[in-house]
Amino acid sequence: MKIQSVEFLKSVYPKDDYPPGNYPEVAFAGRSNVGKSSLINTLANRKGLARTSSSPGKTQSINFYLVNQSVCLVDLPGYGYAKVPQQVRKQWSPLIEQYCRNRKSLCGVVVIVDARIGPTPLDLSLIAWLKTLSLPTIITMTKIDKLSKNKISKVLRQTSETLSIRPAVIVPFSAHTGEGKRHVWQEIMRLMGSSEP
Ligand code: GTP
Ligand code: MG
Repeated sequence: MKIQSVEFLKSVYPKDDYPPGNYPEVAFAGRSNVGKSSLINTLANRKGLARTSSSPGKTQSINFYLVNQSVCLVDLPGYGYAKVPQQVRKQWSPLIEQYCRNRKSLCGVVVIVDARIGPTPLDLSLIAWLKTLSLPTIITMTKIDKLSKNKISKVLRQTSETLSIRPAVIVPFSAHTGEGKRHVWQEIMRLMGSSEP
């Protein structure tokens, strides 16, 4: 995927306005510290674009990044981290909930799962909830650099059984090696019904 331009559009906190929804958007959701911001940086070929941190709860706003003037990658706050204060309905932040419910330009959500853990109950409830909103999802298993090939196959198989989907539609990924980057872009483009961003 050739990245020609990347532009930071806006950070949105509760009560802020979203940027105008002029471009199709794909959002990135997952547990705190799972690697959402790192995945976006890898996709955009920009190391320091979205802030990453080894301590969970780094991203607490919704951040919009426009790639090639044609698709917006949206970094969502993580969920499931006990120390981040949340007025919780489903244990993910109202920011995520309102954004996913109301954003007309949102085409789908990349749900990022830690390959060493597999989908947690919160991940599963998020995936089920997105389905009720008729939002397509791309399931990505990240941090595969930490696992052997055998373990990766095993977790793919288990996760596909848990989610009742084919293993081939789960994208193994590593922000450290870049493995899976092309595949994630392909799935994003497929979701948006286009072959090039
Ligand atoms: P929050 O914004 O806090 O929700 O976290 P996040 O999901 O955006 O995670 P972030 O990208 O900040 O990464 C969290 C930590 O995981 C950082 O220390 C990253 O270096 C590390 N990390 C992210 N992706 C990978 C990966 O593919 N492999 C390995 N080994 N570490 C990763
Ligand atoms: Mg983050």
